[in-house]
Amino acid sequence: MRVILDTDMGMGVPGTEIDDGFALALLLSESDTMTTELVTSVNGNIDVESGTYLSLELLQRLGRPEIPVVRGAAAPLVEPEKVRGAPEAVRREFGHHTPAPGYAAAEIARRVVESPGEITIIAIGPLTNVAAAIALDERVASSVKEIVVMGGVFLGRPPSLAMPGEFNWWVDPHAARAVVRSGAPLRLVGLDVTLQVRLTREHAAAMAAGTGAFGPFAGECTIAWLDKLGRENPGDPEAGEACAMHDSLAVAALSRPDLLTWAPAHVDVVTDEVGRGVAITDLLTRSDAPAPNAQIAVDVDVEGFTSYFLERITAL
Ligand code: RIB
Ligand code: CA
Repeated sequence: MRVILDTDMGMGVPGTEIDDGFALALLLSESDTMTTELVTSVNGNIDVESGTYLSLELLQRLGRPEIPVVRGAAAPLVEPEKVRGAPEAVRREFGHHTPAPGYAAAEIARRVVESPGEITIIAIGPLTNVAAAIALDERVASSVKEIVVMGGVFLGRPPSLAMPGEFNWWVDPHAARAVVRSGAPLRLVGLDVTLQVRLTREHAAAMAAGTGAFGPFAGECTIAWLDKLGRENPGDPEAGEACAMHDSLAVAALSRPDLLTWAPAHVDVVTDEVGRGVAITDLLTRSDAPAPNAQIAVDVDVEGFTSYFLERITAL
């Protein structure tokens, strides 16, 4: 299977979001059956320049420096103010890396259109690059084999008024809407399902005590991230004890499809202020229901995923 990973990579600086890094590692652990031919970066957890450097750094750490990273969108399609600041430490430490030339959306469009029905996109950040690729060339939506997205909330309650919907779709709701309306084959792994798969402090400590090239580093990043979540959520005693492996679940949708349960749905996305990024999910039960435009994840085998994930990651 040929794969493009579109990511807002944060792993690499103590205290930044870690789950894109685990998703990349999990994907590369499946190299026998899944060929990661391109990584593209997008503004989200971190600014796009930093995310590009961190993707390159992590590929090097994982022994795959030959995989090209192409820089993507620096801001959402419509509202450029939803951009995180660039940590100076990232440029200082990792600014020696050089991305491949070009822009993510153009490179995604070129590759997908040149190989109809062959390329799967795993999108684990805001959907800005994917929406732009679809807009660049009308053949992208019909040529892509599948787009597997981590984003949205489909069966659960939008988590908060400050960030309704879910982070990736909140950052760029217009892009999310363009993608779900595109007609491309879609599988959507939403926050209501990803929140069930947790990486605990014990898991992180076991990784940190390992001897591989990735485990100890990943364990330390996880502990720093949990410390930060604990500090930022003083009213929630659970916050610093475990975090969800959102993005890795989108990889598992392809590598271990038996771990997830799916249902057809028609999904649309709210783009205005109060409901920014909220998914409207029609489960097609009425006789006047529209045609499905996606499969949504509705359940996950938590134990099965956790042991699969830990086994793969600790072997790296
Ligand atoms: O809501 C979860 C998503 O937002 C994940 O892609 C994670 O990386 C994040 O910050
Ligand atoms: Ca992400």
